[in-house]
This record gives sequence, C-alpha cells and structure tokens, in this order.
Amino acid sequence: MSEPSTAPAAPARTPKLGLPEIRGRKAGPKLTMITAYDYHTARLAEAAGIDLLLVGDSLGMVVLGYSSTVPVTMEEMLHHTRAVVRGAPHTHVVADLPFMTYQISDAQAMESAGRLLKEGGADAVKLEGGQAMAGRVRALVAAGIPVMGHVGLTPQSAGSLGGFRVQGRGLDAAMGILADAAAIVAAGAYAVVVEAVPTELAALMTERLAAPTIGIGAGPACDGQILVLHDLLGLEDRIAPRFAKRYADLGTVTRDAFATFAAEVRDGAFPDAEHSYAMKPDIARALREEIEQKSPSEPDLLAGE
Ligand code: KIV
Repeated sequence: MSEPSTAPAAPARTPKLGLPEIRGRKAGPKLTMITAYDYHTARLAEAAGIDLLLVGDSLGMVVLGYSSTVPVTMEEMLHHTRAVVRGAPHTHVVADLPFMTYQISDAQAMESAGRLLKEGGADAVKLEGGQAMAGRVRALVAAGIPVMGHVGLTPQSAGSLGGFRVQGRGLDAAMGILADAAAIVAAGAYAVVVEAVPTELAALMTERLAAPTIGIGAGPACDGQILVLHDLLGLEDRIAPRFAKRYADLGTVTRDAFATFAAEVRDGAFPDAEHSYAMKPDIARALREEIEQKSPSEPDLLAGE
C-alpha cells in the first residue's frame, strides 16, 4: 500500500524542452536532470517534472555490473534508451555515446549518434571530451544532431585522468577545462555537463559560456544539476562520491522488502487470503468430490500423471 506523498508538488507539465528552451534556461530556472535506464523510472521522473533525462553509460556500472563505463555497447545503450523514451515521451532524453563509438572518425560518430536518435528515439547525444572533440561536435551539429558536451571528470577516460577524482584544482588544469568547454560550445554543443570540478571553476564556466552548464560535483553555480539515479535513491552502496546526495535509502528499503518476503514465504504468512483467489464454497466442494470419486482407472490428476 503506498503512503501519501510528502514530496514537493511537481511543476505543471510543460511541453518537451527543445534546444531553444534549454539554451534559454541560462537565465533560469535551473535545469533538473537525472539519469534513467528503464521505463518505470523514466515514467516517475516525468511525473515528478524532471526537465531532462540522461541514459548515461553509467548504465554499465549501476545496472549491468561492469567495473567501468568502457565495456558498454551501442546495443545496450539502444535497448535502455528505447525503454526510457517509452516511459517519458514528453521529456527531453539525452543518450550517451558509448566509448569508442565516436572517437575514431566523424563518420563513425555520425553513424553512432544517428542510431541513438533514429533507433533509440533520443532527442540528443552526449559525448565526453573538450578541445580534441570540438571538430567531432561541429560535424555532428552540422548533420543536425543535437550534442551535449561533458568535461572535467570524463568517466570513459578515468584511467588516464588518474581515476575518479576531482579535476581542475590547479591553475593550468582549470584553464584547460575552461578551454575544453569553450571549444565544444563554440562547436555547437547546446549544453555541457561539468563533472567533479571545484565550485569556483564551475562558476566561472557558467558565467563565461553561452550554453547552460549542468553540474555533477561542480557546486551550486551551474545552470542545472544532474545526479546518477542510483546515487540519488541510495541504491549504490559500493562507491559514495562526496557530491552524490542521497534523497532516499531505497537500498535498505529494497533489501528489507526482499528479506520480509522470503521470511513470510518460509513461514506461510504469504500469500494470505487477501492476496489469493477464492472459489465459491459449493464449487470448491463439488470439485473435491468429483476428484475423490474418480474411478481408479482414471489418471490421478493430483499425482500429475
Ligand atoms: O553516464 C552518466 O551517468 C554520466 C553522468 C555522470 C553525467 O555521464
């Protein structure tokens, strides 16, 4: 039985945000974005009035059990993107380009991004990288593919960044991230995810860039915020980045529900009459009599012969 909601009311549903509306949110109100990987979660996010959904390649780590985002395939992204789009048809859905589906050439990136839009139903794609990816972003945008950028900590290259750690703390590194973001916005990216950088750097980026910044571990100044669903819901218990605020503890709730179900099955408390179907008593009696009166030559139904 569900409890009445005590959460803030969802804002009245606006039509699906397009690129002009998203760009316009530079002037506020802040953009809200979460990751989603399945139909039900997408439905709930849409009902809650979340502005944008990301089918992130974090899928690999939080749903598929890989140790990084690197092994995620295009087929896996397509499968989950379709489910999210079915669940949130009125929400702007961004799908991540998986590792090595866009790094090789413009043609490869266009083919991969085209699949996420045409076969997956996404509204836009996201790719990781800065100055080195600016040409790629330009080619995609010229082909009519909306691109969201991702700078700072870029999980697909976490290995070469020294792991999942804050980026841009030093002057040179901070200037590099600023230049990365400026390059992909100049190339046509309509928004940029800024991950795990100091608040002051993200604030400067937000001030200087024409496109909205969407922060994750980048402080409060960004034009919007994104969290990974499993962090937000308390389902991820292996890693807890400092920025990943938990808004619920569904991990504990879920584990307790599973344990209670198992205990009730074992001790016979489930299913009870409330969760079972009944026959009219006279039909049940007649059924029993009929079976008990069967001649011995008849197959024994109760023995399953
Ligand atoms: O894949 C993902 O979930 C992401 C977010 C961390 C922004 O890219």
